Amino acid sequence: MSKQYYTKILKADAQSIKLAGELIKNGELVGIPTETVYGLAGNALNSNSSDKIFLAKGRPSDNPLIVHITELNDIYGLVSDFPVLAQKCAEKFWPGPLTMILPKKDVIPSQTSGGLDTVGIRIPSDITARAIIKAAGVPVAAPSANLSGSPSPTEAVHVYDDLKGKIPLIIDGEHSVVGVESTVISFLENGIHVLRPGFISPEDLTEVTPNVTVDDGVIHMLAENAVVKSPGMKYRHYSPNADVIILDGDLTGFNRFICNNADENDYCMIFDDDILKSDNQYVTYGKDSTEQAIQLFSVLRKLDELKVKKVYARCPNRNGVGLAVYNRLLRAAGFQVIKV
Ligand code: TXA
Ligand code: MG
Repeated sequence: MSKQYYTKILKADAQSIKLAGELIKNGELVGIPTETVYGLAGNALNSNSSDKIFLAKGRPSDNPLIVHITELNDIYGLVSDFPVLAQKCAEKFWPGPLTMILPKKDVIPSQTSGGLDTVGIRIPSDITARAIIKAAGVPVAAPSANLSGSPSPTEAVHVYDDLKGKIPLIIDGEHSVVGVESTVISFLENGIHVLRPGFISPEDLTEVTPNVTVDDGVIHMLAENAVVKSPGMKYRHYSPNADVIILDGDLTGFNRFICNNADENDYCMIFDDDILKSDNQYVTYGKDSTEQAIQLFSVLRKLDELKVKKVYARCPNRNGVGLAVYNRLLRAAGFQVIKV
């Protein structure tokens, strides 16, 4: 049986940050805020800590963890190659919501890298996250601090709801400012390949090289036997208990579909300025892509609180961070999309 904890939530301040750092250094796990989503932080160089992360989340052990550092210099101890293109990305986008997949050095235990010979590295910009990593004095492995499969946490209370009793401490750093997880990229001979879209969009990455490709898995369901470049793509994700169905089309098409097809208990998930032409209950998730990214995961969690069984969602636009919103919503919907 795994150890039971009394889980404390402490506001981020000098004292709680110091405590978080000590716990991480000593092999314990702490829920920490970052600019993207809350992370479940452990010592990335300690295989036991990584084992604990997988256990607490109920995460499949072949799905690798992202390693967080605060200074560019720290990367040289962790990766065996840091190509020029990656250096340019670091210069332009770090600290920030970008994770780069690079060949790992042996100091990173295979538990942390999910058995792969590569590792995802990120330098976060969130002040509290940075202070905690510095206080720990070690690189910090941190997946999103949700139970595997459920929506990622953007508030301390979401971490508490998923992990209470399993970890000793959560640091409350208020609502995450980006709201969706970091952009994950790998490097090809002469270009960048986007494995998971995030706030830093494919368009943003073209400022570093014109050769930016987006993985098929980002907006398509992978075939059962497909070779996945990023293990996280395989798994069911971000799912509320409700059956989510995306209606792809304009507001007129959405309203027509709802009026003709929705049952009275079905919910709608619409944009702030949308006017719904039926009596169905609804939740809203922002008026543009930036707001949708911030609100998406809280709204998916709220649907569970409301015990919603079925929800029809307006389809987000796919530009900029919108691609990340669409990618997460598609997974929440189990790829159920109806053109309207
Ligand atoms: O914004 C974020 O990235 C948050 C915060 C806490 O930093 N972390 C996060 O971690 O989202 P996680 O574990 O929930 O998602 C990491 C994703 C997974 O889809 C995983 O498969 C992929 O990154 N990944 C990690 N290391 C990889 C590697 N070596 N090769 C390919 N994909 C990798
Ligand atoms: Mg995650």
